[in-house]
Amino acid sequence: LDILNHRNDLAGETVMITAGGTREALDPVRFLGNRSSGKMGYALADAAAKRGAKVILITAPTALRAPANCDVVPVVTTEEMRDAVLGRLAEATIVIKAAAVADYRPVMQAEQKLKRSGPLTIELQPTEDILAEVVRCRHEGMLVIGFAAETENALVHGRDKLLRKGADAIVLNDVSRPGVGFDSDRNAVTFLTQQTAIDFPEMSKRELADRILEEVMALRRPQKV
Ligand code: CTP
Ligand code: CA
Repeated sequence: LDILNHRNDLAGETVMITAGGTREALDPVRFLGNRSSGKMGYALADAAAKRGAKVILITAPTALRAPANCDVVPVVTTEEMRDAVLGRLAEATIVIKAAAVADYRPVMQAEQKLKRSGPLTIELQPTEDILAEVVRCRHEGMLVIGFAAETENALVHGRDKLLRKGADAIVLNDVSRPGVGFDSDRNAVTFLTQQTAIDFPEMSKRELADRILEEVMALRRPQKV
């Protein structure tokens, strides 16, 4: 019966999806991280695989079970995620960057566990922008979709990010809304392209994944005027 539900509309596509939050070590037992659960990225991977795509899921640590029929590449740090993404980029026809990438890493990593004593100042340096590198290296016909989590002026920041990053679309997450976003099974987003802003109301991340893929595939079709 499953067969009836799964249009094979992503057959022939190789979808690379990044998921989860990358971690930057401070010492052997501590890291700088973020609140990403990986649920949105995993939902997208599951949806894409069920619709016939070959899926490469590049994932930072999560508490989730990997979806079926995905090629799972586990990573921890931003640099590992970057290397994994660029290493397999040639295979991808669609890249969806759902991961919450650490923007900074500690300049120094303590070899031994830091001991508690007085105030501590940690010097940070920016990480590489993986999405920007993907856009620079993109090959003909590749679609690049970014995510943006914003806490204020979401639409303004989302539009700015879309232009600045040169992605085909940005999935805009207003994480200031209660009950959706981080760690939730539900989400509400705006799918932003240069021409359009499509609002998706609150729904399960799995449902939303199918709606997002619908819009991504629409980018393959000639634009209506
Ligand atoms: N991203 C990335 N590499 C980074 C940071 C972000 O590839 N070092 C990607 C994310 O996976 C996401 C998109 O860029 O798809 C937007 O992430 P976001 O954190 O919203 O953008 P930033 O440029 O880091 O801006 P901000 O200062 O708002 O964090
Ligand atoms: Ca960021």
